[in-house]
Amino acid sequence: MDPWLVLAMIFFQASFLCEAATSRNSSCTKIYGESGLHARCTIESVEELSTILHNPNDVKSLSIVSSDLETIPEGAFRNFTSLVNLSLPNNSIRTIKGGAFSGLNHLQRLELSGNQLIEWEGNFTNSLPSLILLDLSGNSKFVLPTFLLKLRMLKEIKGVTWNDPCANCSLVKNHTLKEGEFKNNGVNIETSELRKGDYLVGNMGHCRVNRLEASQEVVGYANHGFFPRCLEIKACFDNEIRVTPLHRCWDIDNKILSIEFLIAPIAMILNLTVIVVTLTTRVLRRNVTMCLTSNMALSDFLVSLYTLILVCTRLKPYTEFMLFMKNLCNALGFIWLSSAIVSIKTSLILTVERYLAVVYCMQPSLRITRKIAFILVLITWCLGVSIAVLPLVNISVYDGNTFCIPIRPIKDIPHSYELSIGLSLWGIVLYFITIPFYIKVFKTVKKTEKKAGIKRDGTLARRIGALVLSNMIFFLVPIVIAFLWLTTNIQEVMSPQSREILTGVLPTILFSFNSLINPLLYAFRAEKFRKAIKIKIDYICLRKGRSTSLTSSLSGRLRGPTVSSNNGGGSPGRQTPELRTSRSVLSLTKI
Ligand SMILES: *[C@@H]1O[C@H](CO)[C@@H](O)[C@H](O)[C@H]1NC(C)=O
Ligand SMILES: *[C@@H]1O[C@H](CO)[C@@H](O)[C@H](O)[C@H]1NC(C)=O
Ligand SMILES: *[C@@H]1O[C@H](CO)[C@@H](O)[C@H](O)[C@H]1NC(C)=O
Ligand SMILES: *[C@@H]1O[C@H](CO)[C@@H](O)[C@H](O)[C@H]1NC(C)=O
Ligand SMILES: *[C@@H]1O[C@H](CO)[C@@H](O)[C@H](O)[C@H]1NC(C)=O
Ligand SMILES: *[C@@H]1O[C@H](CO)[C@@H](O)[C@H](O)[C@H]1NC(C)=O
Ligand SMILES: *[C@@H]1O[C@H](CO)[C@@H](O)[C@H](O)[C@H]1NC(C)=O
Repeated sequence: MDPWLVLAMIFFQASFLCEAATSRNSSCTKIYGESGLHARCTIESVEELSTILHNPNDVKSLSIVSSDLETIPEGAFRNFTSLVNLSLPNNSIRTIKGGAFSGLNHLQRLELSGNQLIEWEGNFTNSLPSLILLDLSGNSKFVLPTFLLKLRMLKEIKGVTWNDPCANCSLVKNHTLKEGEFKNNGVNIETSELRKGDYLVGNMGHCRVNRLEASQEVVGYANHGFFPRCLEIKACFDNEIRVTPLHRCWDIDNKILSIEFLIAPIAMILNLTVIVVTLTTRVLRRNVTMCLTSNMALSDFLVSLYTLILVCTRLKPYTEFMLFMKNLCNALGFIWLSSAIVSIKTSLILTVERYLAVVYCMQPSLRITRKIAFILVLITWCLGVSIAVLPLVNISVYDGNTFCIPIRPIKDIPHSYELSIGLSLWGIVLYFITIPFYIKVFKTVKKTEKKAGIKRDGTLARRIGALVLSNMIFFLVPIVIAFLWLTTNIQEVMSPQSREILTGVLPTILFSFNSLINPLLYAFRAEKFRKAIKIKIDYICLRKGRSTSLTSSLSGRLRGPTVSSNNGGGSPGRQTPELRTSRSVLSLTKI
């Protein structure tokens, strides 16, 4: 081959390579818009800009795209003195040298998204004085240097990532988180509060608040006035902010409530006695007043049970209580609400029953018979249960407070206000309906004082009256407190502690105290019942005595009635007390 030809070929190839190397397009397109000159450039190195753009200080907006710039050198844009927007997306930038943006005194927006930024050498003492927005999204390995947060005019930094849950986060100056975790509590998370790192949120007039502890990063941003908006995402919020529920009145409440360890068990025993004795004694079972009273005793028993379980679980620390509060409250609140409704309705039925007995004593057909009473009691319970179901189907809630009572005249929870007002008004109306009945009853008793039958019924009516009155008082006092609390401004003058005692602890104690005195007000004052109880006690003592040692004197005392009343069948020893019971009660009713 001709050596010259070879040489020529080599030369040609070399020149071709050279051509290829420089033919890579470095160009700018210029657009004159209303906001000034916009240049969109594709370049190989930043230095080329000065050769392509001849009047850099006219450029308002500069985009550099599709360029593999790895480094932004110092003073790269020094001559672009009027630049407002600088966009450097998707350029594989790794390093920004100190002073890279020096001279850009009017720059407001700086976009660096989609690069592989690792290092930003900072000397920002006098740099970027007008910068408002900085976009760093898509630089997953970049750790935001503190000096960037110090830029005076900077309002937003986009795309900051410091961990997975809070990836691509926007830091916004003086932002306030208005929703999220505390949607229903009117709680805003403010930058100025986050700065403290550890603070209480919630209604400061309430006992229940939340303690917020923010992570170091969040506190760091907040210290410079930036709020990470990614806190609006639950995963990020949960990761960065620890929320601990606090109950500032827990201990003092429980101290006062400890009186329930005395009241509730006694009330349970007394009411259970009324129920058991009434159900097991035939004469009492047949007595409509006693049946209704034992229905009330049942609701009182349940209220005491509610109270006892409540105070027992409240012995736990508040945070532990919170863990199972939802389920606990659904159960306890259900018991309480259905019992309260039964109690109110039974008061009314008892009143009507006494009213008929006294005022219409000459018309024995006008009575609440056992059958009617039974149906009424059944209806009462159906009504109680069906209303108590409402909070379980999202009409108000049971776990709105730590007493699990759905009566809270506050409008924060859907329907809780309406349900509270509804129940209270209904209770008030039912109790006030009973008042005219009693007035009529006592007038009748006064008029016909001579007649023995009416007098006795009148005494019963007075006792039932006491029962209903105590129910009314113990029902109305908490309601009045609630209304005072609603309509006056005691909530502002009172400490959360005293308010919780007034609106939570006191009603609970009053309700259970009512359950305690209800059996004492009527059942235990009724002679029939006392007699029946005495017989029951005798019976129990007798059995006990017999099982331990069958003394001759006891068996002698037993034998008399046993023989005389043993009219065949069964074990005579077992039947005796039963028969004795019914006989003595029968004789009692004849008096
Ligand atoms: C450079 O860009 C121009 C217009 O943008 C185009 O016509 C030309 O083909 C490009 N040259 C190379 C080598 O890509
Ligand atoms: C800025 O402009 C001056 C002349 O006006 C020039 O000498 C200098 O190289 C330019 N600097 C850059 C970084 O383009
Ligand atoms: C800078 O960018 C923003 C948003 O893209 C735009 O509204 C504004 O007009 C731009 N300013 C200039 C001077 O180009
Ligand atoms: C940068 O690249 C991403 C995909 O990698 C693309 O969606 C985005 O539009 C690019 N940004 C610009 C300004 O070209
Ligand atoms: C930052 O730059 C200024 C001049 O612009 C200089 O005086 C100062 O020493 C620099 N600071 C650091 C930490 O480099
Ligand atoms: C980051 O968030 C912005 C909106 O703030 C969004 O436009 C962008 O696509 C996100 N980038 C990534 C990588 O998720
Ligand atoms: C942010 O809040 C601080 C203090 O609350 C205030 O001094 C500052 O001016 C606010 N900044 C903006 C941009 O609103």
